[in-house]
Amino acid sequence: MNSYSYMALGEELDKDAYVITKYRVSTDLPIEKAAEAIAAEQSTGTWTGISTLNDDVFRKYAAKVTAIDGDMVTIAYPEEDFSIRVGAVPQILSVISGNLYGLGALKGVRLEDVEFPKGILKQYKGPKFGDQGLREILHRPEKPLVGTIVKPKIGLSPEDTAKYIYEAGSGGLTNGKDDETLVDQVFCPIEARTKAVAEALDRLREEGHYMVHAINISTNGQDILQLAEDAQSWGATQLMVDVITCGYGAVQAVAEDPKIKIPVHVHRTMHAAMTKDPYNGIAMRVIAKLVRMCGGDALHIGTLGVGKMEGAIAEGKANQDACQSDDVPFKKVMPVCSGGMFPGIVPKVVQAAGNNVQIQAGGGVAGHPEGVRAGAKAMCQAIDSAYEGVPIEEYAKTHHELQLALDRWGTK
Ligand code: 3PG
Repeated sequence: MNSYSYMALGEELDKDAYVITKYRVSTDLPIEKAAEAIAAEQSTGTWTGISTLNDDVFRKYAAKVTAIDGDMVTIAYPEEDFSIRVGAVPQILSVISGNLYGLGALKGVRLEDVEFPKGILKQYKGPKFGDQGLREILHRPEKPLVGTIVKPKIGLSPEDTAKYIYEAGSGGLTNGKDDETLVDQVFCPIEARTKAVAEALDRLREEGHYMVHAINISTNGQDILQLAEDAQSWGATQLMVDVITCGYGAVQAVAEDPKIKIPVHVHRTMHAAMTKDPYNGIAMRVIAKLVRMCGGDALHIGTLGVGKMEGAIAEGKANQDACQSDDVPFKKVMPVCSGGMFPGIVPKVVQAAGNNVQIQAGGGVAGHPEGVRAGAKAMCQAIDSAYEGVPIEEYAKTHHELQLALDRWGTK
């Protein structure tokens, strides 16, 4: 029986012929052995030599370990290993991010990055609207978008949700969204909520303010397209899909449905089960790249070192880059900074991420001492202070709502 080596250190590869991945590997094995075990398991090999593997199959389809740098391993998979039209992202993930996590010889393995060849990228459509499409809808060409997540997450009626959104829009917010745990509970049916919020948004538009609200349509695969189309017919201005719980195919199906004419906001609830451990799982930037391919128009990327969610500035920047880099043939995704945001920390996010972001606060709006409208104003004032480059404490001296927010939550 032939024995095959998956090592190809230093080999110059045609980037258009391979999916190139980077893994951080923790193991007691020599790192070369561990890298080879991954390349074999995920392509043409298994734990032992097999009589059915021949030179031709190996030459065409075997993965190659092309670099090892400390604990970082680069593995290239031939484009032919992928079944994009039928297998799509589920099959991609089974190759680059599948069985390898279970290999007993590895203490930990984290998929840090992936690059796809042109031949695969061109089979995806990317966002229909993207960041600029959202900005056009909102008539807001430059400043960061500023939004809220209706709080409490659950429990408000459709009318109270609509009232919240009207107040938030009156205070200047450009974006509203359902929270990830709200879909169609008895206390807030999706049809009634969507219609009530649509009326509130219409009122705001008549008063000269543009705002969208993402209705959470996360559901079973067989139901999501119908729910998306229904929500749109009830007046939804944006749809929200929880990508990790619903799957990439759900985002892609909604985004590519020709009947859907509104942007798709992508929430990442449950992502931390995969992204939080620095030595095991999948980096958020990989998830962001896949969401962009599948057509998400906006995606939660973390709050760049502030807020309630874990995630340092560098990680947030990498996620932002995956949403916005020029190296793929897709529109850019609007990066959404969400989770424990409040006015005092807005300048830090803008400083780290720039102006092409959507910054949103739930508690940081609804928890304002003077209510939702004042909370929305305080968030907008914080955005304006950062956009104009005026220190936030200085700006607050002439902006009452912002001052109250700083008094309540400070700037850290
Ligand atoms: C989200 O969807 O990002 C969270 O529900 C944010 O809520 P918070 O602003 O109150 O932390």
